[in-house]
Amino acid sequence: MSKPKSPDSLRSARWFAPDDLRSSTHRSRAMQMGYAASEWSGKPVIAIINTWSDINPCHAHFKTRVDDVKRGVLQAGGFPIELPAISLAEIFVKPTTMLYRNMLAMDTEELIRSHPVDGVVLMGGCDKTTPALLMGATSAGLPAIYVPAGPMLRGNWQGTVLGSGSDVWKYWDERRAGRIGKTEWEGVEAGVARSHGTCMTMGTAATMMAIAEALGMSLTGASSIPAADVNHIRMCSASGRRIVEMVWEDLTPAKILTRDAFENAIRTGMAMGCSTNAIIHVIAQARRAGIPIDLDDFEKASRIIPVIANIRPSGDTYLMEDFFYAGGLPGLMSRLKDKLHLGALTVTGRTLGENIDGAGVFNDDVIRTIDNPIYNEGALAVLKGNLAPDGCVIKPSACAPHLRKHSGPALVFDDYPSMKAAVDNEDLDVTPDHILVLRNAGPLGGPGMPEWGMLPMPKKLLKAGVKDMLRLSDARMSGTSYGACILHVAPEAYIGGPLALLKTGDIVSVDVPGRSIRMEVSDEELARRRAAWTPPPPRYERGYGWMFAKHIRQANDGCDFDFLETQFGAPVAEPVIY
Ligand code: FES
Repeated sequence: MSKPKSPDSLRSARWFAPDDLRSSTHRSRAMQMGYAASEWSGKPVIAIINTWSDINPCHAHFKTRVDDVKRGVLQAGGFPIELPAISLAEIFVKPTTMLYRNMLAMDTEELIRSHPVDGVVLMGGCDKTTPALLMGATSAGLPAIYVPAGPMLRGNWQGTVLGSGSDVWKYWDERRAGRIGKTEWEGVEAGVARSHGTCMTMGTAATMMAIAEALGMSLTGASSIPAADVNHIRMCSASGRRIVEMVWEDLTPAKILTRDAFENAIRTGMAMGCSTNAIIHVIAQARRAGIPIDLDDFEKASRIIPVIANIRPSGDTYLMEDFFYAGGLPGLMSRLKDKLHLGALTVTGRTLGENIDGAGVFNDDVIRTIDNPIYNEGALAVLKGNLAPDGCVIKPSACAPHLRKHSGPALVFDDYPSMKAAVDNEDLDVTPDHILVLRNAGPLGGPGMPEWGMLPMPKKLLKAGVKDMLRLSDARMSGTSYGACILHVAPEAYIGGPLALLKTGDIVSVDVPGRSIRMEVSDEELARRRAAWTPPPPRYERGYGWMFAKHIRQANDGCDFDFLETQFGAPVAEPVIY
């Protein structure tokens, strides 16, 4: 393997090598921590950006896994330093982790830039952490490898397999409909998350970990390994060894994150039955790499890639643990070979094609063949029309087939609390034909675009046995959710998008095969409503939220801050060391 880098040319040498007062202080303070000069001199310094915290159950194992990464770094002749970053525990952070994805991306970028490091290991997994870490590392530009947290083990309740999120919603609806009681519910609550690791359905975490691997940013097969499996420990140490080699090879994200890599990621995501959140995150990641990916790239891929991963919620039986046993992502990608750019370079130093050469599939029901998919078009569809001129998305594989083409009256709510109260009212004037609408839940309106998009089914309909209805919002939804939920309406209502003009009783027409969404309201009437519309008051008048509101992009543009995109200003210079 060639070594374009020499010890003298290491970035960290700027801090440690010169015979001057400032560098002497750096050496002295490293020795203050008990290190000898021989431990760092001439060696790649590897930052391990760890998103562990006491309140992130998905990353609980990172507290010890970081030692496995360090072991690998040391074995390969590097010098590891752990740098903690904000943890973004999906379940606990309010109003939504999406408000803080860009903060973690900035945290990552600036941690890398400001410290004496030559390469970086990114430890993440819980929903927003993966795109945030990759966005930050892409902007920082040093060699980087991603270590996924891995999915938790299957849930279990009285012998019934439980899936994260999906079964929580399902059994909660059963409880709301009075079909199970408090005791049964407590059994579900205790059994659905029984090991560390991320959600084990094909939610946003599993989607984004797989996408990171398909992009070429983690070791082959890493994303599918359950968190509690010892293979995960070995993957951590192997990643530590590999990043040291990557520094010598000067294998930076810019060499890996090409247009081909992003197309591989999108196509792999489609075949996985990916979370709708993937659209926002992949667009943001691509733009950090200077690749202009947009909704049309997803729409094109969705037309040619079938869903072949039979994993909940698109599938009806299996979970990520089953996917791992069936061959994991390398197995799935081996079935997509004809549709992938096999020459794309990866962190292994080899091409994607070389990485998956010889990968097998060991269960044809979990990882289907292209000829026997669970859904014959992609996981996501992009709809456009007078309600969403800049697009909105739906996961057709996870919604009732009869709702893929539907017209019905809108039932509109301006905020989450009033919608929540209404759906629990058994006298609500609602039928299965209605389209339930929530607005002011987008990037600025939410704020932060919370995962409110799987609007709860009205209690009245649940009791009548109705399982699904069309729901529409400018919010996101959890990747573990299911149902006929149309999301990410752009522009959002809060900034005056057409959704702001919709009224209860207006007819909304949705045609998923035709990729359209319309409100059947005349242009003249819409102009009258537009003239009468007044913007709502700002959500924040100080602090991070104020900055967020000033700079956040809309959903179709990936929700990055405008000032973090590649084309904004000159690249940031290396820090002056004085
Ligand atoms: Fe962390 Fe689902 S809550 S991945």
